[in-house]
Amino acid sequence: AAPAATLVIFGATGDLAHRLLMPSLANMTAAGLIDDNFRVLGIGRSKESDEELRTSFDESGCMEKLESASKKAWKSLRKRVLFEQGDFTRAECYEALKKRLDKLGCGNVAFYLAVAPRFFGDIVEHLGKAGLLEEKDGAFRRVAIEKPFGHDLQSAKTLNKRILAQADESQFYRIDHFLGKETVQNILVARFANAMTEAVWNRTYIDHVQITAAETVDVGTRGDFYDHAGALRDMVPNHLFQLLSMVAMEAPNRFDADSIRDEKSKLLKAIRIPSAKEAKTNAVRGQYGAGTVDGKKVVAYTKAPDVAPDSTTETYAALKLEIDTPRWAGVPFYLRTGKALGKKDTEVVLTFRPVAYAGFRDAEVGDLPANKLVIQIQPDEGIDFDFLAKQPGPAIATTPVTMAFRYADHFDISHTTGYETLLYDLLRGDQTLFQRADGIEAAWAVVQPILNAWKKDAPDAYRAGSTGPATADALLERDGRKWHVFG
Ligand code: BG6
Repeated sequence: AAPAATLVIFGATGDLAHRLLMPSLANMTAAGLIDDNFRVLGIGRSKESDEELRTSFDESGCMEKLESASKKAWKSLRKRVLFEQGDFTRAECYEALKKRLDKLGCGNVAFYLAVAPRFFGDIVEHLGKAGLLEEKDGAFRRVAIEKPFGHDLQSAKTLNKRILAQADESQFYRIDHFLGKETVQNILVARFANAMTEAVWNRTYIDHVQITAAETVDVGTRGDFYDHAGALRDMVPNHLFQLLSMVAMEAPNRFDADSIRDEKSKLLKAIRIPSAKEAKTNAVRGQYGAGTVDGKKVVAYTKAPDVAPDSTTETYAALKLEIDTPRWAGVPFYLRTGKALGKKDTEVVLTFRPVAYAGFRDAEVGDLPANKLVIQIQPDEGIDFDFLAKQPGPAIATTPVTMAFRYADHFDISHTTGYETLLYDLLRGDQTLFQRADGIEAAWAVVQPILNAWKKDAPDAYRAGSTGPATADALLERDGRKWHVFG
């Protein structure tokens, strides 16, 4: 089990705490990962007592969806959920928090900022000024910060500066929930534990790489947040770049937090920063119009609640990047993500170069389709290898076949939220799956020219339920390539 600690949740009455954090803590309790003296202390304005917060978790429906062992665990965890009413924008709140923590006799404390990003810097400054981040007598003080971390390069730098003035980098746990996904963590094992993959994982054998995070969900009720963010900020410098760095980084010297994060940062810094011209020609932005997704009618993005009727925010982004390392020189990486698309599919596809000489000179084999390795992040988690086999019969004819590994055939990962590992690591003090300041800034530096270029450009239209705008197809066709058909 992780050491005894208090998890102070700012935003405990909100959606993230209900939908993901508390269910994960219940799953962890059921799995024996939580100490008997662990407790949660929620901070917020809208509840008044410990019992009122507990009841709001009971009534949210989120705990009911859990497996029976976790439901049972919630019954015991529930008693250790406390509430401190307060306005976290005011200094008094932190004095009260300090008194409460002292009264409870808390040494180890992790503060979880499950609040709107505009509060991140202020909360950390308040915590620092109140002396709540001082690590005394071997007890830890840590801060978990949700995404988005900044809204551009400058704001990310400013936020890093502000928080690092209050505590050490080793105390900050910047969350990217993609790193909590088993299939994302498995990329490093698939690569570095297997001679067959590692041997061909380079420019000599790989023609290009595609990373896709396609979503069927539309903007829904998140218009207020999303219309100021857009697909690029929401998904690319964080989730897609995490996938990119796992796929493209060099092997770390050791599998510890700093060695892995050193390699990831090195890779992010090796992504060529697009020139103003490249930011225009190598990036595509789209916005969905009305259509049908999963048999349901979707209204155009500009008609969604809390979205400006003349909004030019993108709901789809595609880009072509180059990585300046000996391993990847000349290998394009194509990234795309979008909302209200026809299928949900997060995947990484490595397309191999053709064999140098196939030797089937007299046979009618035609053009040989490329080998592909498809890392299916979600749903239908697994890895597929598309290759060619001989079609049975007297003549030599090839036919494409797939070798498929499915997680579900081997493991049970269906009942986790993806936050369990992240919370467990936060309590154990393992920063491997969290983003470091330099990595965050390197990622923003790459997308900044694209953000600049898009200030003036209107997005290209695509139909809800489609695969995205035609201009995204053109981005690959220009290079004689095609997007992998997802889903
Ligand atoms: C979040 C984004 O970080 O990730 C959402 O803000 C997006 O817009 C979500 O839908 C995707 O995460 P997942 O785990 O559902 O693929």
